[in-house]
Amino acid sequence: MFDIHSHIIYHIDDGSRDMEESVELIRSDVRQGATDIIATPHYYPECPGDPVRIKEKLSSIEKAVKKAGISVRLYAGNEVLYFDSMAERLKNGEILTLAGSRYTLIEFYPMESYKTILKCVRNIRNAGYLPVIAHAERFRGLRENGLDEIIGLGAYIQLSTEPIGRKGLSAVFDGETRFVRKALKRKEVHFLGTDMHRADTRPPVITDALKWISDNLDRDYANAILFGNAMKMTEDNEIDR
Ligand SMILES: [Fe+2]
Repeated sequence: MFDIHSHIIYHIDDGSRDMEESVELIRSDVRQGATDIIATPHYYPECPGDPVRIKEKLSSIEKAVKKAGISVRLYAGNEVLYFDSMAERLKNGEILTLAGSRYTLIEFYPMESYKTILKCVRNIRNAGYLPVIAHAERFRGLRENGLDEIIGLGAYIQLSTEPIGRKGLSAVFDGETRFVRKALKRKEVHFLGTDMHRADTRPPVITDALKWISDNLDRDYANAILFGNAMKMTEDNEIDR
């Protein structure tokens, strides 16, 4: 699986706390089936990250991972909390897109208005970038209005792996799980991500999601969301929609 959403760079946001934890998170992700991971530290308008520092730290993590005998490809990116002048900062190179492509990973406040989400997609598209909505299941505006309209406007959808694989009664009653499974069955999803933060509190959780996907989705679509679409993204090609 190509994991396009993670907080594996230590001491840069609320994710990994040190190099050891970064390696531990990556090891666990790879054990469950990840082959490629994009590091997407948070980018807040009032607290921007430094792209040079992110890339430097990522290359030191790459070395440590190799030394630990873990086989994985790592890429740099950001997860941006949407703000109106985001496109300008993308153009200035202050924000890292996903693996150097035109795709950019965007999140909102959980209760953000649907209107603002639509505006975001239009703004980012008009600026020549391809908006990927991070963990789309988390936003009330999208759970209430569905994904049709924003996909029509040119958004791509990333879902978290963890709610896909939830089991038992909690899954039956859980709004996020129902939302992600319905979106997957309707083929409204383009990418998956673990959004892993920390080894103890928010580790990568993939295994049960992979099982659900192989039991419920056709093979071509499963391959596309697990790997093919993200590979196209790294080549900066547009994905079939
Ligand atoms: Fe995240």
